[in-house]
Amino acid sequence: MKSEKRNILIEYEVCEWEEENLTIDRDLMKRAEEAAGDAYAPYSGFRVGVAVLLEDGQIVTGSNQENASYPSGLCAERVALFSAASRFPGKKIMKISVAARDRKGITAPVTPCGCCRQVMLEYEYKQEQPIQIFLHGTNHQILRFNSADSLLPLGFNRSQLK
Ligand code: THU
Repeated sequence: MKSEKRNILIEYEVCEWEEENLTIDRDLMKRAEEAAGDAYAPYSGFRVGVAVLLEDGQIVTGSNQENASYPSGLCAERVALFSAASRFPGKKIMKISVAARDRKGITAPVTPCGCCRQVMLEYEYKQEQPIQIFLHGTNHQILRFNSADSLLPLGFNRSQLK
């Protein structure tokens, strides 16, 4: 059989903080930025805050938690998502906002690690509804994705566990 080249197109938008179509999301993004202030990041100095919006309007936040035994720490995305899913099981996740700043107080929009993308994808499959994701740093530029699937194309999912 002849090999065949395939392409995957990933769609996302680059937005500005002041944009009108982000008005309803600005509060969520501010909550993520505030949560970054609660990060426990003595080793990297890289503070990440996440705000998760649930279907009933509740917002659950989380921040990265580091550890002297490095792999024992956890990213802000998973802290927030596991907290939301364990405290409010069955509530759909509508949006996730991820904010970050480094020791100097600046960063470009943070792009989640592979494990966190996998966790986002899991909840998206579970609820059978896409999750909108906002990634922002301190330059007030926002990357907006309309699905976790766009952040992790060809991700492993439950349909493969037969
Ligand atoms: N980190 C997050 O919390 N989320 C990300 O999306 C990227 C990285 C954390 C993990 C670690 O505490 C620090 O940032 C440096 O990698």
